[in-house]
Amino acid sequence: MKFFVTTPIYYVNDQPHIGHAYTTLAADILARYQRLKGNKVFFLTGTDEHGQKVAEAAALKGRTPGGHADLMVGNFKALWEKLNISNNAFIRTTDAGHKKVVQELLQSLHDKGEIVKRTYSGWYCTPDERFWTEKDLMEGKCPDCGRDVERIEEENYFFLMSKYHGRLREHIEKNPSYIMPETRRNEVLGFLKHQELGDLCISRPKKRLSWGIPLPFDENFVTYVWFDALVNYYSATKYLLPESFKEEGLWVIDPWPAEHHIIGKDILTTHAVYWSAMLMALEIELPKNIFAHGWWTVEGRKMSKSFGNMIDPSEMADRYGVDALRYFLFREVPFGLDGDFSEEALIKRTNTDLANDLGNLLSRTLTMIEKYRGGIIPEPDDTYTNIKEEFLKVMFDPTQEPLRHIEERLSGLDFHAVIRHFWDNVINKANEYIADSEPWKVKNEKQLSNILFTLSESLRIIAVYLSPFMPSSAQEIWRQLGIEDTIDVVIPENPAYMNWGGYAVSGKKVRKGNALFPRIEAKKEPEKEARPPAGSEPADNIITIEDFAKVELKTGKIMEAERVKKSDKLIRLIIDTGEMRQVVAGIGKAYGPEELLGKTVVVVTNLKPAKLMGVESHGMLLAATDDSGSPVILLTEKEVKPGARIK
Ligand code: MSP
Repeated sequence: MKFFVTTPIYYVNDQPHIGHAYTTLAADILARYQRLKGNKVFFLTGTDEHGQKVAEAAALKGRTPGGHADLMVGNFKALWEKLNISNNAFIRTTDAGHKKVVQELLQSLHDKGEIVKRTYSGWYCTPDERFWTEKDLMEGKCPDCGRDVERIEEENYFFLMSKYHGRLREHIEKNPSYIMPETRRNEVLGFLKHQELGDLCISRPKKRLSWGIPLPFDENFVTYVWFDALVNYYSATKYLLPESFKEEGLWVIDPWPAEHHIIGKDILTTHAVYWSAMLMALEIELPKNIFAHGWWTVEGRKMSKSFGNMIDPSEMADRYGVDALRYFLFREVPFGLDGDFSEEALIKRTNTDLANDLGNLLSRTLTMIEKYRGGIIPEPDDTYTNIKEEFLKVMFDPTQEPLRHIEERLSGLDFHAVIRHFWDNVINKANEYIADSEPWKVKNEKQLSNILFTLSESLRIIAVYLSPFMPSSAQEIWRQLGIEDTIDVVIPENPAYMNWGGYAVSGKKVRKGNALFPRIEAKKEPEKEARPPAGSEPADNIITIEDFAKVELKTGKIMEAERVKKSDKLIRLIIDTGEMRQVVAGIGKAYGPEELLGKTVVVVTNLKPAKLMGVESHGMLLAATDDSGSPVILLTEKEVKPGARIK
C-alpha cells in the first residue's frame, strides 16, 4: 500500500522554530510507522518561497529574491537532518517542476471558466498579503494582525470559489475524518453554515509584486502566494516521487490523494476551504484527511519574535538530545490541543520517563544478563509461570487487543495515547515484573532464564514500536541487546519480527553501553520567598480597615508600554488612572509590551515615586505570583472606566 503524508511548506524567510519542528516531526512519526509496516511512503516537506515578504526581506539584504531563498532554505534542510526527519522529497515553490504544474492547473481552471477577471476594491494588508472587505476590518485595521491596511482598487483574477460552498459542506459532513480533530471540523462547518463563501482573488498585478509565478493567460499578473503554495502537495507527485514508487522502471504508483495533510490550526481555512474547493474545481480527488494540530506557547506566553521567546529546536536538541525532544513534544500534549513548552517540563519528562523508566529497564536487564548468563540472552523454556510474563507475551500478540489499540491510535494521530499506552502497559509492567520476581533471589535456573528472556524480548519489541518516535534510541536498544540488524531495514521485510518470539533474540551477546538517556541536571528553580505556613501568621500581621484605607488603589488603562532599555524585566507603562501616570513594572519576563496595551489593571496610586533603572515610577501595578514565580497581573472582571477607586 502507498502512504502519502505532507507538512506545510514553511516560509523560507523564517528561522525554523519549535512550531515548524512539531508539524514535521508528527509527519515523520507517521511516515516511519508506515514504513515499518512495509508500505510505500511518500513523505513531503519543503519551503514556500514566493510572495511579498520574501521579496521585501531579500531587498533589505540587497539580494535577489531567488538568491535569498537559496540561502535561507538551508536552515530548514539542516534542521530536518539534525532531527532525524525521514522525508523523501523536499519541494521548493521556485522549482521549475512546481511552476509548470501551477501554470497547468491555472490554465485548466481558466479554460473551464473557473477563473475570471474582475475589478476589485478592498482593503489590503501588505504584510499578510490579504484582501479584506470593509466589514472584516477591526477598528479600521487588519483583523488578523492588527496592522494598517490600504485601500486598493485594481483588476485581478478570481477563482469562483463561492459555487463550491454546498459541495464542500456536504463533503465535510459526510466524511467525519476529512478534517480532524473533531473541534476543528466543527469550526469549519460552523463557518460554512453561518457565512457565505466568497470568491478568491488568486492574482497580484506584476507592477506591485513580481516575485511570483506568472499567470499563463495574462503576463501582467503573478499567482497569489497561497494558490501557488497549496498546489505543492499535488505538483510534487508529478516530479519528486521516490524511486520506491517505480516498478520495473516505470512510475506506476500514484501517491495522490494524500493520506494526511498535517498542518497547524492557524492555516486550517486555507487548507479545508481554499484547497478543497480548488481540487473540486480541478476535478482532482480530495485528500483523505487534513489534521490541524494545536499551538505551543512558551512558559505560558505566545511565542513571538518581539517577545524574544522563540524556541530553537536545534538548540533544544543540542542541550537535551534529539530523541528526548521528539519524545517530549508528543508525550506532553495530546496532538490537536495547544500546549506549553518549558525546559523544566522537558527535563522532568526525560528524567522520569526516559532515564528512569525506559533507560533503567534496559540497563538493569543487561546487567542481570551479564551477571547471571555471562552476557548471553538465554532461551526460554516456555513454561511461563508468572502472570506478568504472560501479560508481556500477550501484549505483543497481533491478534490481541493491545496492538490493535496502538494501530488505531496511530491512524488517528493520537501519538500521546500510544506513548502512554506503552509506558503504562509495557515499560512500567516490565519494571514491576523485575521488582515482583526478584531475579536476584531466584534459584530455579529455568525460571531465571524465562525472566531474563521475557525482559529482553519485551525490550526488543518496545524498541520497534518506539522507533518512529525515537529512531536512534530505539536502534541503540537493539545494539545493546546484541542485535546487528537495523530496525527500519529488517522490520518492513519481516513483519513477523514485530511479534513475540518472532525473532531469535536468545543467544545474542549483549553490549551494555552508556546510559540510554543520561539524567539531566534540573535547571535551578527560581528562589521562592519563604512564607510562614498558612494559619501561623503572627498577630502583628493584622491591619485595621483604616490602615488599609491608606492605600489608594485605582483602575488604570494601559495606554503605552515599552521595555526599559537594557532590562529584560522592566516595562515602562503610561497608565490612565484618571490622569496619565508613568509606572515601571517588573513584569517584562512574563509579558510583552504589545499584549499589555488596552488592559485595565489595578494600580497603587499613592506610592512614593521611585526610580528604577533611571526611569521614574509613579505607582505600582498589582500582580499575583504563579507557581513558577512569574507575575500574573490583576485585571478588572468587567470594563470599568479608568480611575475608579478600588476598596
Ligand atoms: N507557508 C505557509 C504554509 C503553506 S502550506 C501550503 C505557512 N508557513 S509557516 O512557516 O508560517 O509555518 C507554518 C507551520 O508552523 C504551521 O503548521 C503552523 O501551525 C506552525 N506553527 C507556527 N507557530 C507555531 C506554534 N507556536 N506552535 C505550533 N505550531 C506553529 O504558514
